Amino acid sequence: MHPSSVVFLVWTILSVVGASVVLPRAEFTIPLARKRVQSQKRRVFNRAKSGDKLPLEGAAFESEYLVNVTVGGQNFQVILDTGSADFWVANKTFECFALNGTAIPDPACKLGPAQFEPTLSPTFELLPNTTFHIEYGSGEYLTGLAGFDTLSVGGVSVAHQEFGVPSEVAFLGDGISEGVLGLAFPGLTSVYSDESGTHLPYNPFFVNAVQQGAVQNPYFSITLNRPTLAQQEHDPFVPDLGQLSLGGVVPVPTQGKTVNLPVIGYAPDANGFFVPTLNTSATAYRLLWYSVLVDGYIFPGSDAVVTASNSTILDSGTTVNYVPSPVAAVYNAHWATLDGESGNYVVDCAETRPPPPFSVVLAGTEFVVDGKDMVVVNGQDAEGNTVCISGVQDGGPVSEGSTFILGDVFLHNVVVTHNVVDPAVYVAQRVPY
Ligand SMILES: *[C@@H]1O[C@H](CO)[C@@H](O)[C@H](O)[C@H]1NC(C)=O
Ligand SMILES: *[C@@H]1O[C@H](CO)[C@@H](O)[C@H](O)[C@H]1NC(C)=O
Ligand SMILES: *[C@@H]1O[C@H](CO)[C@@H](O)[C@H](O)[C@H]1NC(C)=O
Ligand SMILES: *[C@@H]1O[C@H](CO)[C@@H](O)[C@H](O)[C@H]1NC(C)=O
Ligand SMILES: *[C@@H]1O[C@H](CO)[C@@H](O)[C@H](O)[C@H]1NC(C)=O
Ligand SMILES: *[C@@H]1O[C@H](CO)[C@@H](O)[C@H](O)[C@H]1NC(C)=O
Repeated sequence: MHPSSVVFLVWTILSVVGASVVLPRAEFTIPLARKRVQSQKRRVFNRAKSGDKLPLEGAAFESEYLVNVTVGGQNFQVILDTGSADFWVANKTFECFALNGTAIPDPACKLGPAQFEPTLSPTFELLPNTTFHIEYGSGEYLTGLAGFDTLSVGGVSVAHQEFGVPSEVAFLGDGISEGVLGLAFPGLTSVYSDESGTHLPYNPFFVNAVQQGAVQNPYFSITLNRPTLAQQEHDPFVPDLGQLSLGGVVPVPTQGKTVNLPVIGYAPDANGFFVPTLNTSATAYRLLWYSVLVDGYIFPGSDAVVTASNSTILDSGTTVNYVPSPVAAVYNAHWATLDGESGNYVVDCAETRPPPPFSVVLAGTEFVVDGKDMVVVNGQDAEGNTVCISGVQDGGPVSEGSTFILGDVFLHNVVVTHNVVDPAVYVAQRVPY
């Protein structure tokens, strides 16, 4: 399928809890490809202190849905990530580093083939006296300059988009993706003043698209189709495995109620650590991720544990779900074993029994996760055998600053529409496929 830029005049009526909202159909729909996922590193959120460098390690890029973009007339395939907010592509003359900071040959970073050549873009402008710097929980990091250029994604073009052009790259790439398109909130962006070190938030791509009138409606929507186990194991690149829609809802069939969830922001606690808060007037309140309240999870044995969690992010850049420890323990006790070394709940790739059922309850509505999503290929062991893990993993205990993740294992089953102006997400169950 090719990118289409058809403006639908049809409006879809969606029912929400106690009310009815009207969400427009997509103005632009862009295909996504998927590339093979690297091994899951156990995901740890470092708590950020106010004044510290952000981000709070929102993205690890285990899961990789790709989208084609053009910046300054140059084409790139980048990871679509709703768990981070920066767009970046490496400088053509980047240097590669090992995670310990030792310089190593460029090919060792395994970036995809294209890098950005600032001098070849007539529209590139440098943002002086600033540094783009982002670190990931995996130890990967990128440092360099920030600038502005025209950024186009599937027919939606934004002028003067701020973005990162890292020249120091410590990255565990895969030879395919050339950067990241982050679609989270300005509070999570990664440009800092050289003089003071102050965080200088800026508007990410889609916020600018709305402000510049490149789309009429402040919604973007994603569907991520599940790959088969064989595709996960053998195909480094699978085209047409999902869609990104700009300006409205992805046109795929859904069933049941669409729920409307307000996005939860963060503010520093008494010790200065950012924690989720419902008080939008709290000092230094900011939006970071698409973070929502999860009412609970339903699975065999779920009655015996507290399953609610206040701050759970919807993140296209993470493969599995990271849920509160007791949820992961009770769910996986039915079928998985905990691997002490990796911290992952491991399952048999050849498992023929259906995985135990699992649903996520959002705004009082149950969203079913298909059993097909629960066996996730996670690379190979030392003997070359494929390793599979459960789609539900331990995201740590529930405490004030905890943040959990609903990754692609959940997202394969729903259409999520994001409103960046009145911060909210709309979730609808997809018709089983
Ligand atoms: C990007 O474009 C190239 C060339 O047209 C195509 O082969 C590739 O599948 C596209 N990637 C995505 C993510 O759509
Ligand atoms: C840093 O990492 C590289 C690559 O993994 C390794 O070759 C090198 O010995 C390490 N250097 C130090 C000082 O640990
Ligand atoms: C950048 O910093 C240099 C050195 O401090 C200063 O001379 C220059 O005016 C600054 N440029 C801008 C655009 O602020
Ligand atoms: C790209 O790298 C070149 C060579 O190191 C450097 O001169 C230039 O300032 C860099 N540009 C950007 C935008 O990072
Ligand atoms: C919200 O935060 C503001 C600013 O700190 C404070 O004055 C107010 O009491 C808080 N509201 C609630 C309901 O906690
Ligand atoms: C959610 O936040 C509210 C208000 O801060 C708190 O009372 C409640 O205990 C939290 N619930 C969970 C599950 O963390």
